[in-house]
Amino acid sequence: MDINVMNLSKTYESNVEQKKVLDQVTFKVNKGEWVNIIGRSGSGKTTLLKCLSGIMSADRGSIINIGDLPIHSKSEEDRREFRRQHIGYIYQDYQLFPAYTAKQNVMLPELPYQNESILLKRAEELMEQLNIEHRQDALPNQLSGGEQQRVAIARALLNNPDIFVCDEPTGNLDRSTRDEVLQILKQLQEEGRTILFVTHDYDVIEYGDRIFEMDDGRLEEVSQKTLIIEKPIKN
Ligand SMILES: Nc1ncnc2c1ncn2[C@@H]1O[C@H](COP(=O)(O)OP(=O)(O)OP(=O)(O)O)[C@@H](O)[C@H]1O
Ligand SMILES: [Mg+2]
Repeated sequence: MDINVMNLSKTYESNVEQKKVLDQVTFKVNKGEWVNIIGRSGSGKTTLLKCLSGIMSADRGSIINIGDLPIHSKSEEDRREFRRQHIGYIYQDYQLFPAYTAKQNVMLPELPYQNESILLKRAEELMEQLNIEHRQDALPNQLSGGEQQRVAIARALLNNPDIFVCDEPTGNLDRSTRDEVLQILKQLQEEGRTILFVTHDYDVIEYGDRIFEMDDGRLEEVSQKTLIIEKPIKN
């Protein structure tokens, strides 16, 4: 699915202040592309991912089309249903349910909709692929950061979404586990899925087709060459 964003703005409002975090963000991602998003902490990356996935509503006037669906004009419930069917979202802070085991967390979003034994099998396969099957019965607070991250990744992969929205999904992984996750995503990309990937990791950037940089709420495409000149790749 394509992603087409025009003039996406987001203002957080509290009783003390208004804070404009996204400022007229405009960009397009074609189906099957892998786009990386970089930018300093607090520049608005997570806010962008949450608005375009419909987790959060954007300011009036923002246009977000995913495939044929105008996300900006849909109700919260419609957005949730669309996300369930088409988007695999890997949260920066995992968002696992503390009262459920790792395996239950992987299956939970789909349990009301699909046959339980099919889901169980799929969850087990994914956990095996991500090397966390031995922790399947542990609760989230009994898991390490990297294990929780892998549970969150397995959950996002569960129903083969068209688009993966990944918010620093490899930040807590060791190099070999990170590479396995990247390989899984690469394979999914080759099958035609679209990937949006926020990262600070220059090794991850090698996997992507294009790079955008978020700077104080504004998004601009940057070339790989500029990045290498400005911020030499480690090693
Ligand atoms: N719910 C909220 N209410 C008010 N301000 C918020 C809220 N969520 C985030 N912010 C602020 O919006 C700005 C952008 O936050 P965001 O989480 O999008 O940044 P980020 O680029 O993802 O940062 P990081 O790299 O640290 O994850 C920050 O200044 C943050 O403090
Ligand atoms: Mg963030």
